[in-house]
Amino acid sequence: MATITTTASKISPYNRAAELKAFDETKAGVQGLVEAGIKHVPRIFINPPETTFYKTSTTFDIPLIDLESTDRASIVDKVRSASENLGFFQVVNHGIPISVMNEALQGVRRFHEQDVNVKKKFYTRDPTKALVYNTNYDLFVSPSANWRDTYFTFMAPSPPSPEELPEVCRDTQIEYSKHVMKLGGLLFGLISEALGLKTSHLGDMDCDEGLAYVGHYYPACPQPDLTMGATKHTDDAFITVLLQDEIGGLQVLHQDHWIDVTPTPGALVINIGDLLQLISNDRLKSVEHRVVANEKGPRMSVACFFSTSLAPSTKVYGPIKELISDENPAKYRETTVHDFIQYSFAKGLDDVPRLLHLKL
Ligand code: OGA
Ligand code: NI
Repeated sequence: MATITTTASKISPYNRAAELKAFDETKAGVQGLVEAGIKHVPRIFINPPETTFYKTSTTFDIPLIDLESTDRASIVDKVRSASENLGFFQVVNHGIPISVMNEALQGVRRFHEQDVNVKKKFYTRDPTKALVYNTNYDLFVSPSANWRDTYFTFMAPSPPSPEELPEVCRDTQIEYSKHVMKLGGLLFGLISEALGLKTSHLGDMDCDEGLAYVGHYYPACPQPDLTMGATKHTDDAFITVLLQDEIGGLQVLHQDHWIDVTPTPGALVINIGDLLQLISNDRLKSVEHRVVANEKGPRMSVACFFSTSLAPSTKVYGPIKELISDENPAKYRETTVHDFIQYSFAKGLDDVPRLLHLKL
């Protein structure tokens, strides 16, 4: 009798729900396992081999766009082409000082490496808390857990009062967010133009109104081939501004191959999210990406999602009128950001594209 199956969880049946609960209740995260000197990846983190499989390509590069170039038309062209194809680009000369970027990453490190008894107080799955720290927001709905701890805060439009943020990351987070909000204004202007709309169009639609600040911490992994830092997914925001450190591991899916987003000193990674794909009526692409686990670490990143997320909202978003016509009819129904993100939270990072439920 053959006993080998492709799905890791079938190799030896176990009480996954109980193990997830036990792990969650430690409130110490993956970092807690690593600090305890764990040598083997626990079963709850083991991914089926087809998930971790590494089919990479070096044929494609993630475009690097200089935002200080005086040729605005050429910047807009590059933004258009990257957003319509890869869904990803990097920017340099974006106006955020390197010191502010480094400080933001160090703030994330300090949060995750602080005394575990202090950190535990922030461990929650209640998104109304000023700061939500946990391991995998979708821990209980995803097929396998990711080797990653995360905290997030909604920094706009209604930021928490500074005292609600932990001292170890308070100032760095507030400072970096201010800069990202400003950069967001610039990026939405460029993307508006890339869509052939007036510069203020996406800003006027309030796409740049909300900011979720997410501090990821990917501890060094003893068996990186068995798990993932982040399973493949698309982002549910309008756009994401990602700051990664020098370790690497972020990959973008393009033409059935994984392309490395190689860390470039001083650069920020920008990607199109589901909400922008929706309002652009599929012109711009929200592309799947993932983070591989690594023996090296910890790796830190700050993902800033432009979206009002779970904040109550009544404004509806659907394909932009100027972008649809008789020949190119609307492909999606309208939704509020709140409803869309709530759907996204409930589904977790599953394999079904989130936009599908809005398809006309
Ligand atoms: C995300 C994400 C990538 C990274 O937070 O959605 O894709 O490098 N992060 O942390
Ligand atoms: Ni992402």
